[in-house]
Amino acid sequence: MTNKVHILLGAPGSGKGTQAKRLVETFRLTHLSTGDILRDAVSKETELGLRVKNLMAEGKLVDDDTVNGLVFARLQDENQDVLFDGYPRTQNQAQSLQDFLSQKGIELGTVADVHVPQAVLEARVVGRRVCSNNTCGAIYHVENKPSKQQGVCDLCGSPLKHRSDDTSEAFRARMGEFNSTFQPLLAFYKDRLTFRSVDGNRAPDEVFATLETHFKENA
Ligand code: AP5
Repeated sequence: MTNKVHILLGAPGSGKGTQAKRLVETFRLTHLSTGDILRDAVSKETELGLRVKNLMAEGKLVDDDTVNGLVFARLQDENQDVLFDGYPRTQNQAQSLQDFLSQKGIELGTVADVHVPQAVLEARVVGRRVCSNNTCGAIYHVENKPSKQQGVCDLCGSPLKHRSDDTSEAFRARMGEFNSTFQPLLAFYKDRLTFRSVDGNRAPDEVFATLETHFKENA
């Protein structure tokens, strides 16, 4: 089973997915994004996917029990250390995760909050395009990081898509959820020795360099 889990916290569009892709390669971690797991269920129209589809498109959070269940099932089957992206999202999820880790003897590594001013986030989210091939999942932006050929993934050649929750309306709902859950979540982690707050409003390479330093401390 996993020995250690690391966590990336941050608002919608703060760059968690972008940075997670680089961190998992550098530190040989398994990337566990609850958003990706749920979107995969939606695209496969599983029972879970059908249940959460509208909720996600509207920018609302999925209930804690469902998300905790998904995460714990993955952790049971995992052999590498794990990087969470988008989980935990609520204080309740954080407490449930901590209880699970203590019970299984898994260590909590780096907890990094990638902070970006709210005014910057909407343009990042609305302009995001993602690879439609879930195994690739490369992340682009129409202005900041365009693909070489419009609408086509540079890495695997699959079509790019616009996430259903990347509209201005859904973004505002997601920010509403974030603003009502984040302070208690931050309070849960901020006094831990392995907690770091990172300025995410810089070029991706600069953000990565800071995160890499913090992850090296707890690799
Ligand atoms: P989830 O997929 O987790 O979405 P999110 O947290 O809202 O985060 P995003 O994926 O929008 O952004 P990101 O921080 O990964 O940014 P990215 O790197 O892509 O969750 C989606 C939904 O699933 C939730 O609304 C909820 O319904 C459900 N869900 C998921 N987890 C849940 C949980 N634990 N509990 C309950 N419900 C849950 O970057 C964004 C854009 O910015 C890209 O275009 C990128 O190219 C660009 N960019 C990145 N970094 C930079 C930079 N440094 N400078 C300029 N541009 C940048």
